[in-house]
Amino acid sequence: MVQRVSTVAFEGIDARAVDVQVQVAPGLPAFAIVGLPDKAVSEARERVRSALIASGLALPARRITVNLAPADLPKEGSHYDLPIALGLMVAIGAIPPDALAGFTVLGELGLDGSIAPVAGVLPAAIGANARDEGLICPAGCGAEAAWASPDIEIVAARSLIQIANHFKGVQVLSRPRPRIHPHSAPQLDLRDIKGQESAKRALEIAAAGGHHLLMTGSPGAGKSMLAARLPSILPPLSPAELLEVSMIASVAGQIEGGELTDRRPFRAPHHSASMAALTGGGMRARPGEISLAHNGVLFLDELPEFEPRVLDSLRQPLENGEVSVSRANHRVTYPARFMLVAAMNPCRCGHAYEPGYACKRGRNDRCTADYQARISGPLMDRLDLRIEVPAVSASDLLLPPPSEGSVDVAARVASARAIQTERFAALDLPQIRTNAEAPAAVLEVVAQPDAAGLKLLRDVAETMRLSARGYHRVLRVARTLADLDGAEQVGRLHLAEALSYRALGDDLRRAA
Ligand SMILES: Nc1ncnc2c1ncn2[C@@H]1O[C@H](COP(=O)(O)OP(=O)(O)OP(=O)(O)O)[C@@H](O)[C@H]1O
Ligand SMILES: [Mg+2]
Repeated sequence: MVQRVSTVAFEGIDARAVDVQVQVAPGLPAFAIVGLPDKAVSEARERVRSALIASGLALPARRITVNLAPADLPKEGSHYDLPIALGLMVAIGAIPPDALAGFTVLGELGLDGSIAPVAGVLPAAIGANARDEGLICPAGCGAEAAWASPDIEIVAARSLIQIANHFKGVQVLSRPRPRIHPHSAPQLDLRDIKGQESAKRALEIAAAGGHHLLMTGSPGAGKSMLAARLPSILPPLSPAELLEVSMIASVAGQIEGGELTDRRPFRAPHHSASMAALTGGGMRARPGEISLAHNGVLFLDELPEFEPRVLDSLRQPLENGEVSVSRANHRVTYPARFMLVAAMNPCRCGHAYEPGYACKRGRNDRCTADYQARISGPLMDRLDLRIEVPAVSASDLLLPPPSEGSVDVAARVASARAIQTERFAALDLPQIRTNAEAPAAVLEVVAQPDAAGLKLLRDVAETMRLSARGYHRVLRVARTLADLDGAEQVGRLHLAEALSYRALGDDLRRAA
């Protein structure tokens, strides 16, 4: 007789159904797991055996075979412990034979029979709900699973004994409730930054339209400080975005206590980050920093210090909003639609842009060219807003704090974003949320400049040598500037400002 229990295997953030087949047959005592298990799955044998003994049950002294079907799909992770143990418990009569029908099961076992949290409970619950099944999961992940749907049946247990009692009707477990993480710590405020008005303006534009931003300036000018305050002006996640972000966090095992958060992700990996850490993959497929930054911000501080090969791996995700990671025998795709914010010094000495400063390593332009050559042209081309952040003078620091704080800026950002959401919804493109995501064809409809604007574009396209991508990126920024103004049409001033943000990097490149 073969017992069947449903569980899942993760491919990207999708949960694919896996059938755990448990057979207890006459023969010499043995316990084998087949169906492309990785090391963690093979080790399930020892955990399952000990957990059953600790729960007062013994493995039958017979030949036990566990097959994880489909057999050609690789199985990774420790969440197969619980479905295997429950299959065995049905086989030995510890829980009623039909109890597990209509449930997807995942969880890791401790040697004492306790059930430990695992990654990926949210996508598993969403997958189970789509198949009209309930979910049996660790107690620590119950609140996370409850987000899948208000109707899905969830059994979130602490131990094998609790599950057995639940199905025997001795002690029925109540359904967990979805929870949002309460944020008590206040966010850093833009009011802390003195001077730097144009940098703050660029930060506001980037936040309003989801544009990529590069800040170049002397050490101690406040670049890292500015970036750290970006989350305080971004609008909270919409329910759909919240679910997307949480699915990725869930697969990465980064949801603590089952509580989701509605703050936009802000990821700031160190410049020693490897390609696998940034784009995902590695021994076990995991989303990388760029996927964890989905719908939020990826901040790369000291941009030229990143390995050039690692930086260039961002080019494709920046273009299409997802990243494909090749594994030994298959590929997985993770969403990666993020806002890239980068900061750097103009040269290795750091002060090349300061008036009257002479670089120690030779001519200033040679020094900046050497340093900036680490960033490829195509990557630079993808950065819409490039600004210079000059050093603040002591007299700036002595000024009283600015009257405008993050709350005021956040309100303007929110209204500009509302205009964008409405616009794309009216065009029947609800999947586009910001101007930065608008494809070129849509852009031609929504960001058509007025006559004066067109003339400016024509004059400047030649001298600035705008690439096709550059041209569209300028239009996107100009559209955001018009939205911040509440203007219907993109005007000459909007375009002029958008072009000025592009000019900086180009000037540097030409100097190099
Ligand atoms: N505009 C400013 N207003 C107030 N304090 C500032 C400002 N700029 C810099 N500071 C002070 O200087 C410190 C360093 O700033 P920050 O780390 O942001 O510099 P940075 O531009 O990132 O430098 P680096 O290029 O060396 O990374 C801040 O912690 C803050 O105390
Ligand atoms: Mg810094």
